[in-house]
Amino acid sequence: MQEEHRIAELRRILHEHNHRYYVLAEPIISDREFDALLAELTLLESARPDLFDPNSPTQRVGGGLTDQFEKVPHSRPMLSLANSYSREEVEEWADRIHRESAGEMRFTCELKYDGVAIALQYEGRRLTRALTRGDGTVGEDITTNVRTIRTIPLALPDHAPDRLEIRGEIILPFAEFEKLNESRREKGEKLFANPRNTAAGTLKLQDSAAVARRGLDCFLYGVWMDDSGEAGISGHAAGVQAAADWGFKTPLALVGAFEVVETVEGVMDYLAYWDRARNALPFAVDGVVLKVDGYAQRRTLGSTAKAPRWALAYKFETEQGITRLDHIAYQVGRTGAITPVAHLDPVPIAGTTVSKASLHNADQIALMDIREGDTVRVEKGGEIIPKVVGVVLDQRPADSVPLEFATHCPDCKAQLVRAEDEAKHYCPNTSGCPEQIKGGIQHFASRRAMNIDGLGEEGIAQLWAAGMVRDVADLYALEMPALLTLDRMGEKRAGNLLSGIEDSKEIPFERVLFALGIRHVGETVAKRLARHFGSLESLMAAGEEELLELDVVGPVIAEAVVMWFADEVNLERVQHLRSAGLQWTILEEEEAANSQVLADRSFVVSGVFSIPRDELKRMVEQHGGRLLGSVSGKTDFLLAGEKMGPAKREKAERLGVSILSEAQFLALLGL
Ligand code: IVH
Repeated sequence: MQEEHRIAELRRILHEHNHRYYVLAEPIISDREFDALLAELTLLESARPDLFDPNSPTQRVGGGLTDQFEKVPHSRPMLSLANSYSREEVEEWADRIHRESAGEMRFTCELKYDGVAIALQYEGRRLTRALTRGDGTVGEDITTNVRTIRTIPLALPDHAPDRLEIRGEIILPFAEFEKLNESRREKGEKLFANPRNTAAGTLKLQDSAAVARRGLDCFLYGVWMDDSGEAGISGHAAGVQAAADWGFKTPLALVGAFEVVETVEGVMDYLAYWDRARNALPFAVDGVVLKVDGYAQRRTLGSTAKAPRWALAYKFETEQGITRLDHIAYQVGRTGAITPVAHLDPVPIAGTTVSKASLHNADQIALMDIREGDTVRVEKGGEIIPKVVGVVLDQRPADSVPLEFATHCPDCKAQLVRAEDEAKHYCPNTSGCPEQIKGGIQHFASRRAMNIDGLGEEGIAQLWAAGMVRDVADLYALEMPALLTLDRMGEKRAGNLLSGIEDSKEIPFERVLFALGIRHVGETVAKRLARHFGSLESLMAAGEEELLELDVVGPVIAEAVVMWFADEVNLERVQHLRSAGLQWTILEEEEAANSQVLADRSFVVSGVFSIPRDELKRMVEQHGGRLLGSVSGKTDFLLAGEKMGPAKREKAERLGVSILSEAQFLALLGL
């Protein structure tokens, strides 16, 4: 079995070079040599599909698709951290620890990475599972996507424990974030707001090959070993060091980012240093995390329901800049909502130059009395779009006048309206305002809606300018010869666009419903409406009362849906889209597809719920779960409603049964 042997050997060698290159940044072979070894392995593996291994170095490029991320209970809860915002609070916390731990004091200081929490499980030194935090009790299985992150080891060296769980944070470095937004800007796609949200969104992509291209990274710091207990490791610093030795990228990877201190002054020095040095980091951090080092001491201190008493996060203050507000411009969104934008004299804040900032709405402007020509304070929080947070009044020019909010739409010039209970102004010209219509088409074509590849903001503007598209339904009448008359539109691009449009005819009903852009009908509501009514016809026939029967639908949504279908323009659009051949009913398979989510899980349902209890029981069975009469060691989940007796809860807690609320249960089913 020469081949088998070589495959195993190549996998081992490549894992090691991967670690040297990505984690240690100390490669000992050239990229070419690495690629040659990888190519050899790829070839051998293609000849031996029987030896497939999801943890092979060849799998880093992704390719696996995930339809639905399975909900999996955590081995132990994923807690959050208590926050503090001042040095006094940090001092108080340290003093308390000192008192409660009989004078013992050894803290670790590390950065608070602004990313997405992750729990990685290894069995037999192989990555077997990666879970998101979820609600802290039940996470989502995103293993296929996590395997593509180069700094996460897929196989551990022999001296690592056989079974291991390690937790940490997945981040998207600024450079990757900016690269991604740059390419989205080119394609006319909506920009991502900040690296953290982008990392979270990326980890939930269905196509792992797309995840592989995004350049995610990680820092891992929380170690648990299942069988061997803490195996000679007495505290956090030793645990982090051990994790680094097993091949993980830990806070030790960055010089000065992990410190052990024995005095409050030591903590303060660390805070003072990183408060400044953080601006030079290639990724986002939003504070510092202080932890008690000793595991035994941690156990004595214990945890509250939400956070451990042995750790504290210190949040950095957000950075401000001061500059002159030149003028205020107005943007119209697809719903007609008007957003005022402050145009500023460019000012550097936290490493970037800021020249625009958001102002939210007229009330906010009035409240702060923001005027053109004012000197303003601008803040960049976790968001990429900074906001104006105040006016430096003593620098206001003598001739300054209060701002008069726009009265007419900047695009179609219709007179703006503002409902009494709404903060925003709207352009009421829903069916005639070009910006709104174009925004609506952009929403329709977007990835989560009809997913029409190659149809971004710019493409839509082009089709609009040529008069080819005045409504989403017009997309389905586009033809090659006409498209070829457009600038920069060759056969390839036109072909892509047409096939993207053709493919959209297969998009399931629930997404078509979302794509229509009915106000207040987001993805979740669209999904629930689609499942409940089954077809567009029944939905159209439903009155407000019937709509209100769904727990996700309140009066505002119900009214919006009924109004939408009462509008002639919308009915005509639906008529056109119908003849184009989109999906207007829920597919049988879709209903059946999610029916095994609870396979082999046992449930006890108890208490009062917003949905009749029998209905919930039916749902458990429909999704493959089993019902039990009472809580015992065999129970996996207790679905707990209101007025459930406390004895039942206590018993469940004692037996380690996961307790789910109605909302958590519905979330588990993706509802
Ligand atoms: S320790 C039991 N250390 O912050 C708490 N968390 O706000 C274990 N985070 O959920 C967390 N950097 O996702 C810890 N150096 C760090 C961290 C860190 C970022 C995240 C983590 C946690 C959240 C709490």
